[in-house]
Amino acid sequence: MTTLTLDTAPLKHGFGSEIIGVDLAAADDAMLAAVVAEFHRTGAIVLRGQAMAPEQFVRFGKAFGELNGHTLQDYILPGHPEVYVLSNRLEDGRPVGAHNDGIGWHTDLNYTAQPVMCTMLHAIEVPPEGSDTLLADQCAAFAALPEERQGELSKLKQIHSFEYLHKMRSEGRKAVPPEVLRANPDVVHPLVRTHPADGRKALWVSSLTPGFVGWSTADSEVLIDELIEWVTQDRFVYRHKWQVGDVLVWDNRCTLHTGTLFDDTRYIREMHRMWVKGDRPY
Ligand SMILES: [Fe+2]
Repeated sequence: MTTLTLDTAPLKHGFGSEIIGVDLAAADDAMLAAVVAEFHRTGAIVLRGQAMAPEQFVRFGKAFGELNGHTLQDYILPGHPEVYVLSNRLEDGRPVGAHNDGIGWHTDLNYTAQPVMCTMLHAIEVPPEGSDTLLADQCAAFAALPEERQGELSKLKQIHSFEYLHKMRSEGRKAVPPEVLRANPDVVHPLVRTHPADGRKALWVSSLTPGFVGWSTADSEVLIDELIEWVTQDRFVYRHKWQVGDVLVWDNRCTLHTGTLFDDTRYIREMHRMWVKGDRPY
């Protein structure tokens, strides 16, 4: 248990926390433990103005748990396999990172048996406008439903499929190697997920899936669209406007997120991303 008290402000009523006055590069283990505890308590944290070298970012990530590898190896940060680069920058005519990944509401690695617990981004270079990241609070969205509806939805199980997701998004992209497809078989997760820290229930719906167990794809799509629309209402959503040096960490057990576009003909964006391993949803 930590005894440190952090200076914090909620990102949104009842969700998330901006942690003020902590320099992650210089933070000792007790301070990092306090930051991690604040993350588990609130579902998302922001720390502004963080000047961290990649190895310091990796140390920060490891404070949350074991780091997770990346599905595709194309844009690993050289020398730091834990860190994945999101960018539209070209070096010698070649992209240094994945561009426009993560547009559309989703949860990272939902198609795996043990989806990543959290995602963290460190802003290296940001456009002056656009490229906001939006987080939707799935616990607040579930809590706001009528009790009867909560009961009905709690019975459903959703099929999550890397192959299906990739097919739906693959326009203009490279084909996925067959060994990657074999390593990512379809999985089934409960639609209503329990947060292991405190038992809160999240409406853990994902778009671009084959649907619910025992349901047709067409019927599933109607309900998935309805639920995504419900979860992503403004009242449940925090919009993060990026500044250089921002660190944003969100809890994939209780949030949906999406990136937004920016004018990539005028501006460069570069983010460093890490994932922390998670456990099986229940
Ligand atoms: Fe994502």
